[in-house]
Amino acid sequence: MKTVKKAIIPAAGLGTRMLPISHAVPKEMLPIVDMPAISYLVEEAVASGIEDILVITNRDKDAMESFFDYSPEYESRLALSGKTKEIERMRAIADKANIYFLRQKEAKGLGHAVGRARSFVGDEPFAVLYGDDIIFSQTPVCRQLIDAYEAYGRPVVGVKPVPMEQVRKYCSLKAEKIEGTENLYFCDDMIEKPAPGKEFTNLSILGRVLLTPEFFDIIDALPPGAGGEIQLTDAMAEYARAKGVTALEFEGTRYDMGSKLGFMMANVAKAVTHPEIKDDFIAFLREFAKGL
Ligand code: UTP
Repeated sequence: MKTVKKAIIPAAGLGTRMLPISHAVPKEMLPIVDMPAISYLVEEAVASGIEDILVITNRDKDAMESFFDYSPEYESRLALSGKTKEIERMRAIADKANIYFLRQKEAKGLGHAVGRARSFVGDEPFAVLYGDDIIFSQTPVCRQLIDAYEAYGRPVVGVKPVPMEQVRKYCSLKAEKIEGTENLYFCDDMIEKPAPGKEFTNLSILGRVLLTPEFFDIIDALPPGAGGEIQLTDAMAEYARAKGVTALEFEGTRYDMGSKLGFMMANVAKAVTHPEIKDDFIAFLREFAKGL
């Protein structure tokens, strides 16, 4: 079995749920305290053993590329005032991994975005970290998926149980617990955005999957699915029906940076643990909450 060393971050979606800000600032560049959302994904991937990362982007999202580059102008300004720590911190971000960027050209859906990565992936298994899903966890979620892949040798989807009315916004898995495990399921079907009554279970994929190169042929042959988009779930459903995939109920809390509520919640969750501001922020929160 090949080691998982590559990851894709699809980040070319239009982010309509975050308008108006998202038409000028990519939602993946929205801050969680002082770091953009996408940097948490890169951090997670690297901490999981990933070496090469491909970000699927679009013509309005060059800010992502700039963030992972050196910044000579800032560096010389910081050097003048002896702020070497800040320089090192910015360099470390740029040097963290081999990060590649590829434009999707048209936002035709998550499946279509992943399909652009065929030549980057070659013949290796690869992780997909959805660009707007931030997950804070003890063990990086991407690592949890890699461990499940290495244990069972099948593609893995990261899932959580969600309230039934929310399943309709995401997807629903047909899955049965693998005997002797706490959080692993064998999944042999799934459906994207099921209509009421069409759900299998309340297990939905939230933000992380680990796939194999066989998926590219499936994606290329897919017709548009829910919302007229090429849906990654449809490719995974086809694969699951033919061979089965592992579903991993991951440890961690997921925040949807593509929604206003998720964005605010991620910021609060990070701010209360941030060494620089946590004490003042918690004091503020306590005081603020009294007036609610
Ligand atoms: P979403 O469906 O959450 O993103 O896709 P969206 O289409 O930008 O969101 P809304 O509904 O308009 O607010 C999950 C991830 O897949 C990427 C998105 O950038 C997001 O990180 N994506 C989606 C692409 O890369 N390309 C697409 O065509 C669609």
